[in-house]
Amino acid sequence: MSNVVVVGSQWGDEGKGKIVDWLSERADVVVRFQGGHNAGHTLVIDGEVYKLSLLPSGIVRGGKLSVIGNGVVVDPWALVKEMKKLSEQGVTINAESLLISEGCSLILPLHGELDAIREDAAKAKSETGPVIGTTRRGIGPAYEDKVARRALRVCDLKSEETVAKRVDVLLAHHNPLRKGLGFDEVNRDELIAQIMEVSKHVLPLVGASWKILDEAKKEGKKILFEGAQGIMLDIDHGTYPFVTSSNVVASQAAGGSGMGAGSLDYILGITKAYTTRVGSGPFPTELFDEVGQGLGERGHEFGTVTGRSRRCGWFDAIMVRQVMKISGITGIALTKLDVLDGMEELKICVGYELNGEKLDYFPASTDDQANVKPIYESMEGWSESTFGARSWVDLPANAIKYVRRIEELIETPVAILSTSPERDDTILVKNPFE
Ligand code: GDP
Ligand code: IMO
Ligand code: MG
Repeated sequence: MSNVVVVGSQWGDEGKGKIVDWLSERADVVVRFQGGHNAGHTLVIDGEVYKLSLLPSGIVRGGKLSVIGNGVVVDPWALVKEMKKLSEQGVTINAESLLISEGCSLILPLHGELDAIREDAAKAKSETGPVIGTTRRGIGPAYEDKVARRALRVCDLKSEETVAKRVDVLLAHHNPLRKGLGFDEVNRDELIAQIMEVSKHVLPLVGASWKILDEAKKEGKKILFEGAQGIMLDIDHGTYPFVTSSNVVASQAAGGSGMGAGSLDYILGITKAYTTRVGSGPFPTELFDEVGQGLGERGHEFGTVTGRSRRCGWFDAIMVRQVMKISGITGIALTKLDVLDGMEELKICVGYELNGEKLDYFPASTDDQANVKPIYESMEGWSESTFGARSWVDLPANAIKYVRRIEELIETPVAILSTSPERDDTILVKNPFE
């Protein structure tokens, strides 16, 4: 297997950063293919914590090429800030280690502002739209402009004339919109000057990423695709409208990077041993009691990007099984098993009830998603610690039973088991690259 795609199997924050870091040691190239700086991927290497939003997690390892693929929406100011922060942590970032696709659409300050304006308007007046609880990074508005064919792209930065032309098109849409919402118009010349200033830092890293990936493929290099968010936040398959604005499914690794779909060899779904969600939207197995609170505390479930508390609940095998099918997942990395240590009883959702009927899948309708009642199966917990376990013999029998039951219910094998934030605290069943 030369190429591996990593995707989140739930609502994000499954521990993708740690697993991508573990895999990136075995890869030559690490590629982001969707999303933007709404992602927050945490890596812990020898006690040092690295938090990455836009940069591929491979950047912290020397000698790898990190690629920001065309499917990513790039906020150049956020990029420069993140590069600076990582440089201060001793990470070398230059044209040898980072490549930004010339096809990426840009996130401008007006996108973040519109994201926030909409969220605040929805909070004040529900008829203006649902409160999504976005990261307010401008992700949705930037993808809207991309799909509407009026976005500025990274390749436009080469010429001030092109930037000015594209800004005019963009503002012809945004200024009337802002005015209608009661906000100031964007000053064209100031925006152009800001863009030209930041482009100096970005342009040296820009290239035709599809071409460089094709060369890497020809040379037999191992390519790792790092998904952001989770499949339940996918614009097509997630809990719409409480989703992000990109396709999160593994097949997007091909479209969002310019690699052929046939090049995606192994799809690894990163799956938390329970469930969390940040922001609003349906969550059938959510816990509102001290059990959920305990998961949040032991799992340190606070958003990497926004610091918000994550909602916590039981493992939902129906939803995760659906995700396995939708995304064609070969195997999973089951993370945060240690957070369940000391719990007397564990529940797994094995079906739903909706209006007196049983359902064996998660329906698409927003109302149905909000109204399904989980049907649980109960399992005995374990009192021993699994924290930092590196082999099956270190796991109590009930923990192994829990893992086996999950595999059975989601019809997908566990390839990697993670037992702490540290990169080497993992149990390997199958190396996705081999
Ligand atoms: P991502 O967005 O999927 O990369 O995940 P985040 O980094 O947002 O959140 C996952 C959090 O769990 C991070 O703080 C990780 O350091 C931590 N983590 C990852 N794997 C494990 C694990 O197996 N056990 C524990 N206790 N923490 C983990
Ligand atoms: P990683 O890669 C968890 C959520 C937001 C919100 C919804 C839409 O760290 O797993 P957006 O800003 O994308 O328009 O917000 O999606 N969201 C995430 N939740 N992890 C993420 O990324 C997320 N990225 C976006 O909270 O509910
Ligand atoms: Mg995260």
